Amino acid sequence: VPVENIRNFSIIAHVDHGKSTLADRLLEMTGAVAFNSGHQILDKLQVERERGITVKAQTASLDYSYEGDDKVPSGNYLLNLIDTPGHVDFCGEVSRSLLASQGAILLVDANKGVQAQTVANYRLAVSRGLVVVPVINKIDLKNADPDRVVSQLNKIFGLEEDTILRISAKLGSGVEDVLKAVVREIPPPPADVSASFRGLVFDSWFDKYRGAVLLIYIRDGFLRVGDHITSAQSGQNYEVRSLGLLRPSEEPCKMLCAGQVGYMTCNVRNPAEVHIGATFHRKGETVEQLPGVSAATPLVFAGVYPSDQSQYTSLRSALEKLVLNDSAVTMATDSSPALGQGWRLGFLGLLHLEVFGQRLEQEYGAEPVMTAPSVTYKAKLLGAKNIKKYGTDEITFSNPAHFPDVQIVSEFYEPVVTATIITPDEYLGSVMTLCLDRRGQQISSVNIDNDRVMLQFLLPLNEIIVDFHDYIKSTSSGYASFDYESSGYVPTKIVKIDILLNGNKVEELCTVCHFSRAVMVGRHLCTRLRDLVPRQLFQVAVQAVVGSKIVARENIKALRKDVTAKCYGGDITRKMKLLRRQAEGKKKMRMIGNIEVPKHTFISVLKR
Ligand code: GTP
Repeated sequence: VPVENIRNFSIIAHVDHGKSTLADRLLEMTGAVAFNSGHQILDKLQVERERGITVKAQTASLDYSYEGDDKVPSGNYLLNLIDTPGHVDFCGEVSRSLLASQGAILLVDANKGVQAQTVANYRLAVSRGLVVVPVINKIDLKNADPDRVVSQLNKIFGLEEDTILRISAKLGSGVEDVLKAVVREIPPPPADVSASFRGLVFDSWFDKYRGAVLLIYIRDGFLRVGDHITSAQSGQNYEVRSLGLLRPSEEPCKMLCAGQVGYMTCNVRNPAEVHIGATFHRKGETVEQLPGVSAATPLVFAGVYPSDQSQYTSLRSALEKLVLNDSAVTMATDSSPALGQGWRLGFLGLLHLEVFGQRLEQEYGAEPVMTAPSVTYKAKLLGAKNIKKYGTDEITFSNPAHFPDVQIVSEFYEPVVTATIITPDEYLGSVMTLCLDRRGQQISSVNIDNDRVMLQFLLPLNEIIVDFHDYIKSTSSGYASFDYESSGYVPTKIVKIDILLNGNKVEELCTVCHFSRAVMVGRHLCTRLRDLVPRQLFQVAVQAVVGSKIVARENIKALRKDVTAKCYGGDITRKMKLLRRQAEGKKKMRMIGNIEVPKHTFISVLKR
């Protein structure tokens, strides 16, 4: 296919506005998959199917025969589609996908209208110089109001009515026009076929047999199986073992040409060698590197430790392979007196962290201990002696266990974000109350139509990572949406809370919070633990402690748990089976002193 007949584009939208459904229709209409071959073909991961959300961008190459018009000639076109996730926690995926795209289809739900991630994704695409094709979806819904969405798109982004398509991805109506608009409006890739080979790696995953599989966008020249290439980032050399297109399953080929997007394997056994955003070139040549992505800055950090140290190596290998597939996650080694050697991982949000944990378990069978998520704080140190000891006058910490002695700190700083919230008028009051309650400061408020408001708030990151999204949804019956970006640091007063079970510190739960929240957070953690930790054979005291002061306390009453009680008399094999099942359950437990706590409790505890 000549470069002029290639179109590379992403589908971007707010959560649930229908990206994966539209991708399904496009795949069907171009014959890449059979009609009605199933739902959400590109949502391949078990987590995605279970949660019904896309967490991972997926690529598919489609053949499309275009009839031709005044602007573009008829012919066979190669369309590379990337379906992206909609949730703010996975914005790293969107950002990477746009690297290999010249255009984006911006989907907006005809009933819900422009939402916070619609605004964020539109701005991101425009800032990268992409052509945006606006499409209103779900016009089949009874309460669809596409005219209203048109005026919102016009008011917020200045998009003209005649450029906006109206479709139903579910029923397939208008979808053909989307394909036409892709060919007509989106420019072919700015590729130079005759120049030396340059390719950009924008995604990868690990395959047991072939090592890392790299998704590569061929910017210039061509690449053949057997070619010798070099990573400009690491200087390492490789031989290309296989190449192919994703249709959406792998279709091997001998050569990829400028403008194309495809996969490549070159026997990379160590996932740590792969850099997303790296430029590859022919061995022995020097080329200018392609602009990569500035990696999304992780906002939320959590410790990850093997349940017992014998699993350290297998956990490391699982983490490295999964991080290869989720390049927004950062990984550094860490250690803890109670949990041993482990890692501190950085995520874009709590959902990102949860999904990562779930993928570790589902795809790699790893069940590590994960600590309470925390943001990164800063502390200005007092006194020349301390500054000399630390080698700096300002220390940074995300692990609450590294909370410095308050005596040596002149001021603490916490990260803040600028949050964009779009809400119907009727919920404005409760949304504002929620933001103020979370120590927010209002920056602006704009009416985007007769009864919808777009608010901007400066909010401490710490106040939104765990459950802000759930709250904003529940106070607005699901109508308000929310997106955020980091906005630096502000001075703050914070304290460290330790949680004790019968006097033993629960390393996973020690946390840092604003001083005004200490009693509330302490109480919350204690009552949640009281409800979530199964009763033991003895009474357990749950305490929240700041320094030497107990701020909250609860008791978990004693219980005698006899798992075999249910099988009266019965035969011995049944009894053995129950005991075995209990033993299996115990593997999912973490011992704190002599108290058994199911591992999943720790994340559940944090939710308000
Ligand atoms: P994320 O990837 O999680 O952000 O979601 P998404 O944007 O991919 O949305 P998805 O395609 O999963 O669709 C969300 C819901 O909207 C599903 O229940 C779809 O069946 C429904 N949906 C999508 N398109 C249409 C449409 O045109 N009409 C109607 N009535 N429902 C639709």
